[in-house]
Amino acid sequence: MRTQVGIVGAGPAGLTLALLLKQSGIDSTVIECRDREYVERRVRAGLLEQNTIDLMHQIGAADRMDREGLRHSGVYLRRPGHTQYIDMVNLTGRHIAIYGQQEMVKDLIATWIDRGGDIRFMASSVELSDLDSLSPLIEFTEGRRRIELRCEFIAGCDGFHGVSRTSIPPGVLKEYDLVYPFSWLGILAEAAPSTDALIYSWHEHGFSLYSMGSPTVSRLYLQVPVDEVLEDWPDERIWGELQIRHASEGWRVSEGRIVERGLTPMRSYVCDPMRYGRLFLAGDAAHIVPPTGAKGLNLAVNDVRLLAAALSEWYEQGSATGLDRYSETALRRVWRAQDFSNYMTQMLHDTGEGPFARRLQLARLEYLERSEAAARTLAENYSGLPATDDF
Ligand code: PHB
Repeated sequence: MRTQVGIVGAGPAGLTLALLLKQSGIDSTVIECRDREYVERRVRAGLLEQNTIDLMHQIGAADRMDREGLRHSGVYLRRPGHTQYIDMVNLTGRHIAIYGQQEMVKDLIATWIDRGGDIRFMASSVELSDLDSLSPLIEFTEGRRRIELRCEFIAGCDGFHGVSRTSIPPGVLKEYDLVYPFSWLGILAEAAPSTDALIYSWHEHGFSLYSMGSPTVSRLYLQVPVDEVLEDWPDERIWGELQIRHASEGWRVSEGRIVERGLTPMRSYVCDPMRYGRLFLAGDAAHIVPPTGAKGLNLAVNDVRLLAAALSEWYEQGSATGLDRYSETALRRVWRAQDFSNYMTQMLHDTGEGPFARRLQLARLEYLERSEAAARTLAENYSGLPATDDF
């Protein structure tokens, strides 16, 4: 088998790339090791910045997102006794939307298949080779057959634990890494959210986040120690702690049946360059951010926006300039997002650095209330700086 671009991974990055390339007349095949049901159900945060919303429109996959996504114009920052609304729209002119990543993936898969796109689910034992040649190879097993897919380029969009990055020979990548000493305990509950926007709460007990999946589903998170086990968190303890950390006078978190729960360790990671030969990495395959800034999905989509433009330039004009600049360009936004995600994380969590650090956090939160310049800085990062050719 042959294709122009072999795409490893049917997440938001891989599927968006496939659709963007198709619009430029470039063929691709998407290889995914899980089945369709699994990727369509994999619940992940889904906070879309304006750039991501715009891109969904550009590829013609935005209808359901426009109907069912929750359009928000800001978020709340809370500490005991104070709640501040960061009004993104007034401060930056840019919106955000809540739309589950799995919903976005469903729409992208349906659109891709509808347009005749090739996608192979349950591809096992995926191996990449000849990456530094002009025709890199993806091999995978489908049913009982071993398939060789000869490509002109490979896009590694298979996440942090995927095969793409680890197929790069040792010594090529410089890796940057920061592991935080806490995790998020997250729940999904059948409860109509008692808030109209996300609430990021600072509390002596630690950070908590009030988010939502739909008008009837709440998503909530608690900072917990990194070695915590779910067995120690019966429902009553979870709700009790959420009520304490989000407390505000005359108001409560609305409770309901918990339908899912999980622990997410916090880490930051970047590899540089996001390329080896004709393999280009995009999304979590190349970088991880802690979820406090809601940047992971948006960064992934931005990577493939740049990669699709660079590949189009190659196929339409024979120019490798965009491809040669891809890593440097993508990393500019990645590092901006790393800084912002780290800032949000450090400002809101108990980082274990003691009372002085805790007071500094309160000083920062108070500054955000007093200074429109500070609030605007947060808002422009959260809602996403405009997408350009070099950022
Ligand atoms: C979520 O809805 O799961 C969510 C939203 C915002 C975040 C992190 C997670 O910063």
